[in-house]
Amino acid sequence: MERTFVLVKPDGVQRGLMGEIVQRLERRGLKLVAAKFLLPSLSLAERHYAVHLGKPFYPGLIRYITSGPVLAMVWEGPRAVDLVRQTMGATRPWEAAPGSIRHDFAVEMSRNLTHASDALETAEQEIALWFSPDELVSWERPH
Ligand code: CMP
Repeated sequence: MERTFVLVKPDGVQRGLMGEIVQRLERRGLKLVAAKFLLPSLSLAERHYAVHLGKPFYPGLIRYITSGPVLAMVWEGPRAVDLVRQTMGATRPWEAAPGSIRHDFAVEMSRNLTHASDALETAEQEIALWFSPDELVSWERPH
């Protein structure tokens, strides 16, 4: 069982797509284990995107992610990291597979609605950055 981190970015919140994104992940069969709605601080944004520090798009990325509230979530399921990335679609919306969120709702790479962890190790780091352990809820579906 894997856990992965998902962020609905400010454009997703502002365009009213939070419900759509949550619904697609629920319908896929993944399980929500943590969620919070917040305006990310500069420090949180810088830590989240530390890997992109120095890249030309970094200042714009930090401005964008701190420009409005985001929905931060942790989703659980078998192969959750890959499943979620497939549901989101490729980072570049013009390369996203038909039926994926970025294919269906995005056109720009810099306004691509969501962030999802790219590997298990990154997922662990991002979950620890955005959530404290007691904010993760373990629960089971009745059989
Ligand atoms: P995300 O999955 O959040 O990870 C880093 C983000 O940086 C990425 O989605 C894009 O929104 C953004 N990004 C990556 N490359 C570029 C680029 N070349 N120009 C603008 N934004 C980019």
